Amino acid sequence: MYRSHTCGELRIADKGKKVTLAGWVQKSRKLGGMTFIDLRDRYGITQLVVEADAAPELVEKAASLGREFVIQVEGEVLERESKNPKMPTGDIEIKVLNINILNVSTVPPFTIEEVSDGGEDLRAKYRYLDLRRPPLQRALALRHRLAQEIRTYLDGEGFMEIETPYLIKSTPEGARDFVVPSRMNPGTFYALPQSPQTFKQLLMVAGYDRYFQIVRCFRDEDLRADRQPEFTQIDCEMSFVEQDDVLNTFEGMMRQMFKNALGVDIPNPLPRMSWYDAMDKYGSDKPDVRFGMEIHEVTPLVQGCGFSVFDDSRYVGAIAVPGCAEYTRKHLDELTEWVKRPQVGAKGLVYVKLNADGSIKSSVDKFYSPEQLKAVADACGAATGDLLLVLCGEKRKTQTRLGVLRIEMGNRLGLRDPKVFAPLWIVDFPLLEWSDEDGRFYAMHHPFTAPKPEHEKWFYSDKKEDLERVCANAYDFVLNGTELGGGSIRIHNADMQKRMFEVLGIGPEEAEYKFGFIINAFKFGAPPHGGLAFGFDRVCALFGGQETIRDYIAFPKNNQGRDVMIDSPSKIDQVQMDELFLASTVKE
Ligand code: AMO
Repeated sequence: MYRSHTCGELRIADKGKKVTLAGWVQKSRKLGGMTFIDLRDRYGITQLVVEADAAPELVEKAASLGREFVIQVEGEVLERESKNPKMPTGDIEIKVLNINILNVSTVPPFTIEEVSDGGEDLRAKYRYLDLRRPPLQRALALRHRLAQEIRTYLDGEGFMEIETPYLIKSTPEGARDFVVPSRMNPGTFYALPQSPQTFKQLLMVAGYDRYFQIVRCFRDEDLRADRQPEFTQIDCEMSFVEQDDVLNTFEGMMRQMFKNALGVDIPNPLPRMSWYDAMDKYGSDKPDVRFGMEIHEVTPLVQGCGFSVFDDSRYVGAIAVPGCAEYTRKHLDELTEWVKRPQVGAKGLVYVKLNADGSIKSSVDKFYSPEQLKAVADACGAATGDLLLVLCGEKRKTQTRLGVLRIEMGNRLGLRDPKVFAPLWIVDFPLLEWSDEDGRFYAMHHPFTAPKPEHEKWFYSDKKEDLERVCANAYDFVLNGTELGGGSIRIHNADMQKRMFEVLGIGPEEAEYKFGFIINAFKFGAPPHGGLAFGFDRVCALFGGQETIRDYIAFPKNNQGRDVMIDSPSKIDQVQMDELFLASTVKE
């Protein structure tokens, strides 16, 4: 037996016990004649002490220990003279009677402590050392706990966990595919699944009416804090259900996860907001509803007063930022530059200050009387001391920009506390999204999403404005401004699926080539079905109070999609290239 206890286990009640511990030397220091060693494992840290009058070999051995040496010690639990209330084991220390060095260690490239001195790149290269640090261990422990909660809940609800293949054919989730060449079928490629979407629908056709899988998905897209090229979904599908059945089931799962992992009660039932309201009020289909600062349309109040920028705009909207009327010229210039950045894309920013003395000052005083500006402020629910920020342009684009500005102001004002959780469902998404650039419709969710039955009449119309009106029973689970999951009630009828491909400009031959298998399956008695998928990495990060998912994945990729620890992706040799019938066009 290597150890009788872990390094996080011993307490004052264990005083006098003879124990054996094993772990890593976090640090060791000499004080007087004594050597103090912090011994770490994933359960915690225990202080070891080699006393001045210990056997000389023992004192010498203790002195030889370097950081991250792996040791086993035998000793006796003593009450500490100077207790450390910050450590769970801080009341005791181990008087060392014997040290067994199990392995030595090269000096690690950074400190392996709660807060490390290592930069991000260095820590990524030595990920296995970074993973020894408590914050990462807590992150992975939370991930494990949540996975257990999910399995327990879904098993209890009669869901079966079924695996689906990774070497498949393109799935239309809107990103690029990662592809894998097939040696046995020269010149052909598998695609890695962007999600198991088509397979879970085929499982419904096969009669497995409650399916789930905690499954890896692969998407070749630009990376961000909440995006990885390979990530994990909690993927689910149900047969003989309507939207409410799906929402209630997965609200239940989330409620249990919040309760059991965080001790947090979320509202029952969860709020639901239509996509249209979310866009109008928050300028986002993933609104952060922890704070107000809602968007208000003020178009009719500001047009016809001679300010051509507003007069020529289809839409003028504003947010009232609480307590910011004191913003100086410098602040406002900086904010104007901020909204003009390409990431936001506004042409300019109009402000109205509701000064504490009751006066009103704006960047458009030339065109509007204080009364007119007051009317705008009232329409936005602004109070004395607030700052109105106004943008104009095309409706949805302007709302989106105001939404981005709202989040920025929420951050600046500290209104986005990661320990406060405000989950909600966004429902009633439009089925289709028109792209001016490509002159065609795209599926807002994916092409297997069904139109709402009452909107089917428009779905079969050839008019663009009719198709734009079609809504879907599609839904997203949103938490604190992040889309954690999404899904829909699906098409289960071959003719309707064909119509969908037609609307999306996918010709019959292409549809047959890409999705013939699913259209065909729908001819064999497909039940009504629907489902959703949560981004598991995002769930873990937000539960852990973080926005970036990287710490919740044991071995993530960096922003360039590289694993710098194993140095991947990397070249393959010519023999392998030849076997796969591949030729590279990259110039050396
Ligand atoms: P969707 O594409 O919305 O739906 O994906 C579901 C959830 O997966 C997460 N997610 C990601 N997480 C990390 N990195 C990424 N690159 C990434 N991409 C997506 C998000 C998202 O909400 N098949 C449908 C679901 C369904 O209809 O049942 C699908 O994949 O949290």
